Amino acid sequence: MESFVEKYILAIDTSCDETSVALTRGTKILSNVLWSQASQHARFGGVYPSLAKRSHQEHIDWVIQKALKTSRLDFNNIDLIAVTVGPGLAVALEVGIAKAKELAKKHKKKIIPLNHTEGHLLSVFASSNRIGGGKLDKNELFPALALIASGKHTDLILVSAIGKYKIIASTIDDALGEALDKAARMLGLGYPGGAVLEKMAVNGNKDKYELPTPMLGKEDQFEFSYSGLKTAMWRLVEKETPLNRQKIYDLSATFQNKAFLHVERLTIKALLKHKVKTFIFGGGVSSNIELRKRLRKILKAQKIQLLVPYSKKLCTDNAAMIGIAASFKKNSLSGNKIDLVEREPRAMIGSSFKI
Ligand code: KG4
Ligand code: ZN
Repeated sequence: MESFVEKYILAIDTSCDETSVALTRGTKILSNVLWSQASQHARFGGVYPSLAKRSHQEHIDWVIQKALKTSRLDFNNIDLIAVTVGPGLAVALEVGIAKAKELAKKHKKKIIPLNHTEGHLLSVFASSNRIGGGKLDKNELFPALALIASGKHTDLILVSAIGKYKIIASTIDDALGEALDKAARMLGLGYPGGAVLEKMAVNGNKDKYELPTPMLGKEDQFEFSYSGLKTAMWRLVEKETPLNRQKIYDLSATFQNKAFLHVERLTIKALLKHKVKTFIFGGGVSSNIELRKRLRKILKAQKIQLLVPYSKKLCTDNAAMIGIAASFKKNSLSGNKIDLVEREPRAMIGSSFKI
């Protein structure tokens, strides 16, 4: 697919617990460097804000240097700086934004502020030399339905064109990734545990235990909810303690199955309401093979193409997706306007920073 701006972009994302910097050109990724703080937050079972901020500050400079070195570019070659302004953790976002401003002023570059959720959504358009991809025809893509499922978001988004989004369903409590992480933690699988839970579930029997399907009987409410399932899981795990390996397999499979059934049901409902050509699946949870399989089955019956990021690294937080999203933007900020760029922790896709 053709990008509006085939420019060299240095992209920064510090929205949560990953310090990431990438160099991109159009939808091509030249480098995508990531420093993960996840292990530092593991003992808290979630991201600890002041620790995240400090860690971003400590690591951002070498992550930038490494991204430049890997791409064999320097600031003379770079046209634009893209930075995530939200949604995300305020004190973490702030570090990336401050660095983007500093670099833009020092090297006289323009800035493009980006929405993190839009980055996840557009990450499916990444092309690489390896796969020689990116040859999607825009006319065949839209309208599209997108599911962005991460540790903080579970959104079904109607995409009429790149940049034109309407959220049609969100979570009223926990995000899907967050729920999977909490279940994994209950089973002693560490944090963040979505990917480990997936591995355990492969060996388990999904029908071994009883857990409720979220929002069953509330078909008129078009939203995600995972707190009821989480509470039921907590009770079940307590009842089954002490756990053994087989129990962990079966409990993982049971939880994952019910969590995904909820996604399937809402997706089917959304597809009945909205005629779309493609289905975009992004965010950390989109690397889950089982959920991809289930969605593919639903979509195949309706001849709708499923688009997912081409690698696991592109599913979870990374700056390349921000560079790719930036390549679709026509405008950028320069001079005094750079100071207008501010963090937007609660930004919604399509509504953040208009330039
Ligand atoms: O997009 P992401 O890196 O960060 C946020 O923006 O939140 O998503 C992280 C989430 C975590 O909840 C993690 O457990 C989940 O994505 N995740 C997975 C898998 N890999 C990462 N969930 C299910 N299956 C996976 N394979
Ligand atoms: Zn994310």
